Amino acid sequence: MTDNFLKAEQLSQKQFEYMKLTAEIMDIRKRGEKPLAFIRTYGCQQNVADSERIKGMLALSGFGFTDTPDDADFILFNTCAVREHAEDRVFGNVGALKNLKRRHPQILIALCGCMMEQEHVANRIYNSFPFVGLVFGTHALHKFPELMYRSLVDGGRVFERGTDDKKIYEGFPVRRDGSFKGWLPIMYGCNNFCTYCIVPYVRGRERSREKGVILSEAKQMINAGFKDITLLGQNVNSYGKTLENPVTFAELIKEIDGIDGDYWLRFMTSHPKDCSHELIDAIAGGTHISKHLHLPFQSGSDRILKAMNRHYDRKKYLETIAYAKEKIDGLSLTSDIIVGFPGETYEDFKQTLSLIKEVEFTSLFTFIFSPRKGTPAEKMDDPVSAEEKSKWFRELLDVQEEIAAKRCAEMVGTTERVLIEGVKEKTGELNARTSGNIIVELDGSSELTGTFQNVKITKARNWILKGELCK
Ligand code: SAH
Ligand code: SF4
Ligand code: F3S
Repeated sequence: MTDNFLKAEQLSQKQFEYMKLTAEIMDIRKRGEKPLAFIRTYGCQQNVADSERIKGMLALSGFGFTDTPDDADFILFNTCAVREHAEDRVFGNVGALKNLKRRHPQILIALCGCMMEQEHVANRIYNSFPFVGLVFGTHALHKFPELMYRSLVDGGRVFERGTDDKKIYEGFPVRRDGSFKGWLPIMYGCNNFCTYCIVPYVRGRERSREKGVILSEAKQMINAGFKDITLLGQNVNSYGKTLENPVTFAELIKEIDGIDGDYWLRFMTSHPKDCSHELIDAIAGGTHISKHLHLPFQSGSDRILKAMNRHYDRKKYLETIAYAKEKIDGLSLTSDIIVGFPGETYEDFKQTLSLIKEVEFTSLFTFIFSPRKGTPAEKMDDPVSAEEKSKWFRELLDVQEEIAAKRCAEMVGTTERVLIEGVKEKTGELNARTSGNIIVELDGSSELTGTFQNVKITKARNWILKGELCK
């Protein structure tokens, strides 16, 4: 048994009773008409997965859903704190709700998610946005029905954050956004404390869901016709360490891969410090596991990696990549990068450039460093100007664009199995994705949405492929 072993709790019966009570109140208020909720989700897939649980609870509370805030009885923003830009967008959009509340005083406006776990943010909302009636952080998700009910009946403002950070709750009703592409959280929180990152502070300590619960949710999704399932965690490689019977991530993914059906299995995010050969072998030998590894390296400079508290160096990262390329045919690699970490020099940045040239990633998620209140990096000396950082950032994008274009051009003439994701509004073409997560556009009927098809790649336009359905 590990020190921090904890048993999952079921969402309490009391919460289901609150859902019923809310349904009754709303039925009276709306005189039998269905109340509507508008939910906007910012940030990563973890937030998307949480919103799907909130929507599940709202559906059991009698709510339907709308894309028009003006039609809503309940508006919720699920927020992200990872960069300043993300927070600014939320503040701007919440400010814009003031007039809506004036026009519809009955409307309940709520904020939840990562931003709300920061005390200074909750205080700012409390003081500057009096029309926000309900605020709850990531650790209060299991109490949402009760908090919602209290906001509706008390008339006062309800603020709840920062409790139960070590617990894990099961038994949420889930209303998934998609019917063939879905998210499956396998763990919550993070213990890594990279010096730039707010996530461990707003999501709490790392904790894993029981393997049996994950397997049964995966089976349900596959039986319901899901074709593309992404296992979610901030660092999936350390899955299972908090369980009574520890399981490795490689063992978990191999068991899920053993479920019969026609589907792809993905996962994110892998941390390079413990991306094991066992996991790479599992991808190589898997039936459903996508030949895609998202392995954020953040910086190519050892000095900066140390300052970031990442616990690997360039050499170890490149060794992992070399092993993965050797074992997995047709591997697609993607990564996250931060430009302009405090103290980074142009020499350090050039190490990042040389690493992306060496690895040849399919695509990159690139970010300029954003100081986060309460993290160690916020207090580090940061002498490089914002203009200079933007210049480096553009240089990085140019280099990557060339690499992505070259990688896509190499695929022309090959046949790829793709999942058709929908129709592009502008052109009427079908949008599809390869197992390596590369976008393919092709002509075809919208009825193919949600199906796997074989496609001949005919053209590459920068990092997007064009293809034709194989007869
Ligand atoms: N757990 C994942 C990442 C979660 S956050 C991992 O470790 O890979 C997603 C990405 O946002 C990070 O990989 C990082 O590149 C970026 N990021 C996080 N904090 C940031 C900050 N303060 N400034 C800029 N980018 C940041
Ligand atoms: Fe943030 Fe690092 Fe945890 Fe990822 S591993 S969520 S970057 S602290
Ligand atoms: Fe943002 Fe929270 Fe995800 S801070 S990136 S929504 S874990």
